[in-house]
Amino acid sequence: MPDSKWNRGVAVVGVGLSKFGAYADKNSRDLFMEAYLDLMESMPAYNPKKVEALYLGNFSSDQFEKQAHLAPILASWAGLSPIPAVRIEDACASGGVAFRQAALAVASGEYDAVLVGGVEKMTDLEISAVTEALATAADTQFEVPVGFTFPGFYGAMATAYMHAYQADRSAFYHVSIKNHNNGALNDKAQFGQTIQAIMEQKKVRAEQKGRPVPDWQDEIDFLSDPKGNPMIAWPMALFDCSPVSDGAAVALLVSEDLAHSFTDTPIYLVGSGQASDGALPERETLSSIPAAVEAGRQAYAMANLRPQDIDMAEVHDCFTIAEIIASEDLGFFERGTGWQAAIDGKTALNGEHPINTSGGLKSKGHPVGATGVGQVVEIWKQLNRLAGERQVKGDPRYGLTHNVGGTGQTCVVNIFERRV
Ligand code: COA
Repeated sequence: MPDSKWNRGVAVVGVGLSKFGAYADKNSRDLFMEAYLDLMESMPAYNPKKVEALYLGNFSSDQFEKQAHLAPILASWAGLSPIPAVRIEDACASGGVAFRQAALAVASGEYDAVLVGGVEKMTDLEISAVTEALATAADTQFEVPVGFTFPGFYGAMATAYMHAYQADRSAFYHVSIKNHNNGALNDKAQFGQTIQAIMEQKKVRAEQKGRPVPDWQDEIDFLSDPKGNPMIAWPMALFDCSPVSDGAAVALLVSEDLAHSFTDTPIYLVGSGQASDGALPERETLSSIPAAVEAGRQAYAMANLRPQDIDMAEVHDCFTIAEIIASEDLGFFERGTGWQAAIDGKTALNGEHPINTSGGLKSKGHPVGATGVGQVVEIWKQLNRLAGERQVKGDPRYGLTHNVGGTGQTCVVNIFERRV
């Protein structure tokens, strides 16, 4: 147990994930149950009677599905009533915050076992209504009225970053290509295709429709062409954006001393931090997310670890620039060098700092309330060497998650350890 105010350590003993995607025939209940059943399969000794509370990350089922008060509904649907069931909303960090609150509840001694869930069902609405719903996570007094959408916010951050560090736009392409490469190895990913495969498919479709076949030579060529990769909010084009997604994730947290009575493959939460910030116009810099730096500082201090100790990280790449900024905010690369590191392949599966081995938000998908918990699912798999073809090399011991709400008004960073 690291030196901290936490009364006792916390372990993750089981995880589950629904397939992420766009499902006209599934609602939040279906998605949550898909993830919950996946957890049960991953834990032969699972006993629902041991679960004492549900903490649920969900950004806006009220806007997306006209259904608020989701936590007790899902607890009942899963047969867990009458345990306390709490919904937590912190924009795209809802899942990460729910995870941390559940961990604090276990660490406090109040509960021995807590189920954490994250869910979002976004695709029933038209894209304009989705954009409007997401905009409620921004500052509706100072940001939204001047015309910002989330692609616009991150476009502004990308512009500031490029200006500050003379970064080349192709760095964003490399983040996207790498995350699609990883997502192609993840059967739960929404876009489980490499960009190369998407490009070839578009050529075939053009030929079938009797249209001129584009002569893209490679993925960079494809991504540089607005016909393949249309602009959304400069310099963020389509393949810089995470998609609109449906999905759910769950994790079972227990007191550290009980971990081995639940599973042979626990991972331990050894560092955790959370911080907040004001709206984008109030910040001194647009090329960093100060709340992420602070949350990371807290998590590293609690774990008594350094960035170079981390074997792999799942970071919040809602837009490709966000991954580059995260790689610097978390100390993996010097300030202003993350873009070159992405180009040089340092964040690839076999690179020195593997990032988003799951495919990240870009390729795996971003059902916003589920994302923070889904990141923990990937780290659990990686640390237990259950990640199949996307398994990082060597004998990984430490994994990190970084989950951002809004443009950095909330950030949660967690560090996990495998001990056997
Ligand atoms: N990356 C790559 N391809 C994407 C994509 C994405 N993010 N989103 C959609 N596509 C593809 C679709 O598969 C489809 O391909 P096809 O024509 O070959 O079938 C095509 O683009 C059009 O899809 P559609 O669903 O009509 O796209 P859209 O215009 O409605 O939405 C965005 C595209 C970028 C506007 C939308 O994904 C978006 O808003 N993303 C950001 C979400 C966000 O802000 N989240 C919160 C972050 S803080």
